[in-house]
Amino acid sequence: MGQTDPSPSSDTPALARTLGWPHLIALGVGAIVGTGILTLIGIGADKAGPAVLVSFLIAGFVCACGALCYAEMASTITASGSAYTYTRVVLGQLLAWMVGWSLILEYSLVVSAVAVSWSGYAAPLLHDWLGLPMALMQGPSAGGIVNIPAAVVIAMIAGVLLIGTGKSAAINMILVAVKLSALALFVWFALPHFNAENLKPFSPYGFGSTMNPDGIERGIMAAAAIIFSAFYGFDAIATAAEEAKNPKRDLAIGIIGSMLACAVIYIVIALAALGSTPFTTFANSPEPLALILRLIDQPFAASFLAITAVLTLPTVILAFFYGQSRIFFVMARDGLLPRGLANVSKSGAPVRITIFTAVVVGLIALFLPLGEIVAMANAGTLVAFTFVAVCMLVWRVKKPDMPRGFKTPLAWVIGPVSIAGCLYLLVSLPQKTLLWFLIWNIVGVGIYFAYSRCNSAKHPT
Ligand code: ALA
Repeated sequence: MGQTDPSPSSDTPALARTLGWPHLIALGVGAIVGTGILTLIGIGADKAGPAVLVSFLIAGFVCACGALCYAEMASTITASGSAYTYTRVVLGQLLAWMVGWSLILEYSLVVSAVAVSWSGYAAPLLHDWLGLPMALMQGPSAGGIVNIPAAVVIAMIAGVLLIGTGKSAAINMILVAVKLSALALFVWFALPHFNAENLKPFSPYGFGSTMNPDGIERGIMAAAAIIFSAFYGFDAIATAAEEAKNPKRDLAIGIIGSMLACAVIYIVIALAALGSTPFTTFANSPEPLALILRLIDQPFAASFLAITAVLTLPTVILAFFYGQSRIFFVMARDGLLPRGLANVSKSGAPVRITIFTAVVVGLIALFLPLGEIVAMANAGTLVAFTFVAVCMLVWRVKKPDMPRGFKTPLAWVIGPVSIAGCLYLLVSLPQKTLLWFLIWNIVGVGIYFAYSRCNSAKHPT
């Protein structure tokens, strides 16, 4: 790739190749199945009613198109950094910076969001078992003062990452298996209570995202824009490219395999949840699936699910935290962020980045509400996905003969559908989120012109 080769040179720090495709699929499923199905299903139902099922289908379809574009880029450009690296190679440094800046938002805020969701399941257990006050386990928007468990779980995951990738990936595989068994148990108990009456009226808030009198945007698309976060996470696999043993083959297997598996799991769980209980009873609950099990008189299964969520949601935090530190690492290695951040320890972990990220996302998790954190994370993700699809198409034109480990089928249909779908989901996010996202990008452009452009002598546009 000559001048545009994104691989690290011999004088820059490198990461150890320890991950095979089973690790990558587990990393994918570990990153994908989490807050979306365990908690956001409630927020989604509040926005769309039973038609949140359609929101799942729309978000899943757009995400699947994005996954196919990602898989092609990941199997073609196998350096770490995912969408940031693809954009740098294909579209140049300024746009790459914007994508990297969006990825930083995505990965950081998903870590915070999942930590808040984790706390939603952990807090009632900690309250019942240890008598800890709820006010110290919920943020102000949920009626508490500060969400301490959310910050603690972030600190613990930072510790696991500092031990090193290989050990983290092994722990991740075990936790993914436990998480899937708990979800299977939920379906086992909830599905026999299916009653079609619970799905009526099916779409009380219509299709498009519209502002309701209570100041909340509702509709199938408003829910889809939030539910979208349930499906991504496979992109965390692409950030591990430099640690994959056989990246060209295994990244595509990991991305598509984990994405398809999760889509099937979600539809089954959403059907079981919405069919067994009227959506109004669990909308906006911090632990909707456990609540549903209690409502259908399965308190033991509810506690089991809550404990399992507490044990396994950290796999999602782990994957995104890992992805975040790698994006930071690659951007720092390229000089767009201070190079000192790219130093790695003996175990191969970028220590300073990990600690810095833990502090920032921990502070966010302490105080901010889940819905708002997720909406901002999705804004960043949707921009990154849009650029990946653009990169895939541009690269097809610029480098038609370059060997690709995986080729997106019907690229000239899937690519544009992915771009249009992501942009439609983006504008369906709450207005407040879009405003904050604009501010985030203005700050990003400012930093680029004040610092990054001058310090990135190695890869000029
Ligand atoms: N897909 C991830 C989740 O649902 C972000 O938690």
